[in-house]
Amino acid sequence: MTDLSQFIGGLPKAELHLHIEGSLEPELMFALAQRNHVAIPYASVEEVRAAYDFSNLQDFLDIYYAGADVLRKRQDFHDLAMAYFTRAAADGVVHAEIMFDPQTHTDRGIAFEEVIEGLLSGMRLAETELGLTSSLILSFLRHLSEEAAFETLRAAGPWLDRITAVGLDSSEVGHPPEKFARVFAAARAQGLKITAHAGEEGPPAYVHEALDLLGVDRIDHGNRALEDPALIERLVAEGMTLTVCPLSNHKLCVVDDMADHPLDRMLALGLKVTVNSDDPAYFGGYVADNYRAVAKARGLSRNDLVTLARNSFTGSFLPPEAVAAHLERLDAYAGG
Ligand code: HPA
Ligand code: ZN
Repeated sequence: MTDLSQFIGGLPKAELHLHIEGSLEPELMFALAQRNHVAIPYASVEEVRAAYDFSNLQDFLDIYYAGADVLRKRQDFHDLAMAYFTRAAADGVVHAEIMFDPQTHTDRGIAFEEVIEGLLSGMRLAETELGLTSSLILSFLRHLSEEAAFETLRAAGPWLDRITAVGLDSSEVGHPPEKFARVFAAARAQGLKITAHAGEEGPPAYVHEALDLLGVDRIDHGNRALEDPALIERLVAEGMTLTVCPLSNHKLCVVDDMADHPLDRMLALGLKVTVNSDDPAYFGGYVADNYRAVAKARGLSRNDLVTLARNSFTGSFLPPEAVAAHLERLDAYAGG
């Protein structure tokens, strides 16, 4: 391992853009299919991995929702979460804000309670066994209606004190943030933070809408903001965090080549960017792999890497005291 690779592995960091359903590794998919007697359209783990060849977001989403069908019981969600936290901790992640898609499960007849209680028990175990803290972001599927999102928010009612934020994911183009303005206003009124995928495949106008109509605290992806100089200026002025996902961008053809990834350009513009894994089981790597891939492709310095890790803490939804404690540890690591 090179010095830089080792430095990345030990760098204390937060992960802010992670879909827990996207951390379902083929091995666990097979094990759960067996445990729950669910048929899956693959004969082997190798066959599953071979199917992960995407040319856009929708290609991926079709396979991602199909894969999630093996998740049936509370224990499955617990196991899924613990598998992710174990990998994340090995990558230097000390705090993770994980998205889950309740509608992917409730629409299959799985109770909201099974999903969230399984995830919460995995989160508690990660804290005691791995020293990794985490929080939950309830993500609405944007290809479904706003009324369905409202229903999901209502279902979450008994757990609102254990949910930190709401998010917006799934098929972006044709489903602008505007469609969900009222449900996000309701979520904010209930004390939840707000994040939304915007500018992954959708135009810069969707990033404007996420800011103006949803009142986001973070933007997930945001790559296409680079097409709009006034928007860049605004994001910089507001100190808005962007949760960028390099391997995802490459796998979903948001960038054609990792060598062309704009992460260093975003840093140079003064955008508050972070590096995240999105759906690590599908995109070929966890968070440290994302740092390594973009560091290699774009020649990032140690300083750049420390800035990315710093942004991951200051862009998190942690209280200021916790952020300060993480930054102190980061500074000790970077200076040591
Ligand atoms: N984009 C939109 N929706 C998603 C993604 C993504 O990268 N991953 C899981 N759901
Ligand atoms: Zn995502």
